[in-house]
Amino acid sequence: MAGALLELDRVTKRFGRVVIADDLSLAVAAGDTVGVVGPNGAGKTSLFGLISGDLAPDAGQVVFDGAPVTRLDAAARCRLGIGRTYQVPRPFGDMTVFENVLVAAQQGGGLRRRASYAAAAWALEATAMTRQANVPAGRLGLLQRKRLEIARAVASHPRLLLLDEVAGGLTDPEVAQLVGIVRAFNAEGMAVVWIEHVVRALTAVVDRLICLAGGVFVGDGDPAAVLADPRVREVFLGNDVTRGLDGSPHPDEAVGSDR
Ligand SMILES: Nc1ncnc2c1ncn2[C@@H]1O[C@H](COP(=O)(O)OP(=O)(O)OP(=O)(O)O)[C@@H](O)[C@H]1O
Ligand SMILES: [Mg+2]
Repeated sequence: MAGALLELDRVTKRFGRVVIADDLSLAVAAGDTVGVVGPNGAGKTSLFGLISGDLAPDAGQVVFDGAPVTRLDAAARCRLGIGRTYQVPRPFGDMTVFENVLVAAQQGGGLRRRASYAAAAWALEATAMTRQANVPAGRLGLLQRKRLEIARAVASHPRLLLLDEVAGGLTDPEVAQLVGIVRAFNAEGMAVVWIEHVVRALTAVVDRLICLAGGVFVGDGDPAAVLADPRVREVFLGNDVTRGLDGSPHPDEAVGSDR
């Protein structure tokens, strides 16, 4: 698609016999909001790896802002404007929340001292984490760990924000707050691609939903239509996440889905 912010152009990626992406193409425009669902092990997180530069495709191109980035590493792509959270956050536990976000702004965003402090302060404010600024990251509870992960991802002011299961294990009011935070980033112009088993959080934010299974998109389009698609429901049935599709809690939510 001409003018897309992110393009996957016929990307293929396999781990042995597991096919993550099978000649997969995707275009995301600036400011878009896209949800990604799919069974456990479908390759959703790996798809983010292909976009962020943590994984190299076996074939195909990744294009960001009109230029190929397939050969760039994750640090270079972050500086171009791709920010991501990790499904299993690994903050520096001994460092404070502020220091963690500052490192993300400096190393991820390539910002110099003064700009990085401003960016870190902004990221904490935007994720409602300012009050925890001086707390060692290792002492945070689940909600705040998830928010810190988002703060780290946005500290570089990305144009594309990739969120990987940031709502799992949260209470309803916490999910609602998170939805507000993500919407605010989108309102500032960030495109959001959000992998989430908590479907009601996704549908509160995204205009488009993709279901990844077997290396292809078995659904792609209007969220309600995708969720009602028999092929999508079938993919989920084998994975026992149908409760999530109906808006009731997904089994992962009770314990958090970080593994
Ligand atoms: N670096 C790797 N090397 C080999 N296999 C991998 C690697 N990363 C992931 N896999 C495998 O690829 C498959 C997809 O994993 P991935 O984590 O991308 O799935 P997912 O859709 O994010 O799953 P979940 O919903 O459980 O988070 C799994 O079978 C996983 O074991
Ligand atoms: Mg995953």
